[in-house]
Amino acid sequence: MLSNGFHDVPPGKVAAVVTHLEMRARPDARPAPEAAAWPIRRVEAPSLDWYRDLFLRVGGQDWLWFSRMGMGDATLSSILSDPNVHVYAVEKDGQAEGLLELDFREPGDCELAYFGLTPALVGQGVGRALMNFATDAAWSAPIRRFHVHTCTLDSPQALGFYIRSGFTPYRQQIEIAEDPRLTGDLPMEAGPHVPLFLPSAVPPGSKPRGAETAQIDLRYSSRAFF
Ligand SMILES: CC(C)(COP(=O)(O)OP(=O)(O)OC[C@H]1O[C@@H](n2cnc3c(N)ncnc32)[C@H](O)[C@@H]1OP(=O)(O)O)[C@@H](O)C(=O)NCCC(=O)NCCS
Repeated sequence: MLSNGFHDVPPGKVAAVVTHLEMRARPDARPAPEAAAWPIRRVEAPSLDWYRDLFLRVGGQDWLWFSRMGMGDATLSSILSDPNVHVYAVEKDGQAEGLLELDFREPGDCELAYFGLTPALVGQGVGRALMNFATDAAWSAPIRRFHVHTCTLDSPQALGFYIRSGFTPYRQQIEIAEDPRLTGDLPMEAGPHVPLFLPSAVPPGSKPRGAETAQIDLRYSSRAFF
């Protein structure tokens, strides 16, 4: 267990608080505005290029989703072609602008593995329509538990949205990972809400032996809201 207080995150890494949520019975659907009824299409065994492009536009660019961006072709391909992994796209004017991935690989469970919209669809009720679809699809299978996790890198809308959707938080963790902008998995301008600390940087006030104290290099993009 972590002790109380502040804990340094090594330069070159990102840290997030992860909240795990679950539901153990099908909830009532919440109303979604009619205008939000864009088609939701199942994409069986999607091509890696198509999937990575959508993943980047939904979560990579703005929210620093990195897990799938750093995955090799063979691993990603084996997940996406698994018959128990169901990928859906929300289409606006024929273009995929939303991603839903339901993972039924664990018997009795469904994981809402990825859920999100590109900026073209956020905030118009499409998230609610997609969640109603996801909940229905999950509970149409013989599951006992539907679960999801979200983290402090995700949209600040996400946690409240999941709780209103019927999920209950049951666990929190701290996740530390390599900064995906430094590994090359995401572009340098991705995740403008997350400061980038180069691994060579040394925090002000520390006195590395025999070396000059370097400045922390914060590369905020023009879209940053600090
Ligand atoms: C989290 C996310 C999916 C939420 O979707 P969203 O489109 O912003 O949310 P919506 O607009 O559908 O819903 C918000 C609420 O406003 C309501 N609403 C939105 N537009 C409306 C309208 N025009 N008329 C009436 N109600 C409306 C919705 O019905 C919903 O109500 P409820 O939650 O009380 O039932 C979205 O912000 C997103 O994709 N973010 C980026 C990726 C991300 O972080 N994903 C989560 C990762 S874990």
